[in-house]
Amino acid sequence: MNKEYSFNIKRKRPEDLFKNVSDYFNAETLTNYAESKSIMRTQKKIAIRALELLELQKNHCLILDAGCGPGFAAFYLNQLGHKTVALDFILDFLKFYDITDLNPILADMSYTPFQPKIFDAIISISALQWIFKEVGNKIMRSNLISLFRSFYNILKPNSRAVIQFYPKSNVVMENIGKIIRETTQFSGTFIIDNPNNPKKRKIFLLLEKKI
Ligand SMILES: C[S@@+](CC[C@H](N)C(=O)[O-])C[C@H]1O[C@@H](n2cnc3c(N)ncnc32)[C@H](O)[C@@H]1O
Repeated sequence: MNKEYSFNIKRKRPEDLFKNVSDYFNAETLTNYAESKSIMRTQKKIAIRALELLELQKNHCLILDAGCGPGFAAFYLNQLGHKTVALDFILDFLKFYDITDLNPILADMSYTPFQPKIFDAIISISALQWIFKEVGNKIMRSNLISLFRSFYNILKPNSRAVIQFYPKSNVVMENIGKIIRETTQFSGTFIIDNPNNPKKRKIFLLLEKKI
């Protein structure tokens, strides 16, 4: 990671204003999100980029979409022929799924309920900023460590996780990198698309499980 790169978002974002993601996604916000065509397009574009970074080695993979929301990425992966497991802990998002296509799981992505070495890949789109918001918060740190350990555990050897998210600052982002280095066996890097355009900037955490 280039040490020169720095940013600090000043405006208050939903994850700064609401303690829990479920407080933000009340009935109205949740329906607006789930039914928005423009959000669907944006999230699908991010999923396409995440897929590129995964560099999947075969056509029909078993992929976890962690923090799937109403399933914009999960449905797209399914359409491509992958077997997708969509997971989120907000019950009302899961009611948007047509379960004949995709049957989502209600669970916390920091504590995933799966067998070890089962997934070919993991993606997570626009969710991690809700789990780790500030450096120095012990509960958030502990949930984050559990998330990465759990992802490591359920991934097959030689496979990847791609996590797109919106950290508040480079300090938060680098702290996440440090926690991964200190507490997991993942190797990884941050990939930043459009680094000089704050509106278009997209940050991806690419993690590799080697063995
Ligand atoms: C902004 S939405 C993104 C949803 C979806 N990935 C998309 O691209 O549209 C963030 C999602 O992350 C989920 N989320 C946040 N923390 C979570 C956790 N600990 N476990 C499971 N889901 C979580 C929220 O419930 C919400 O559905």
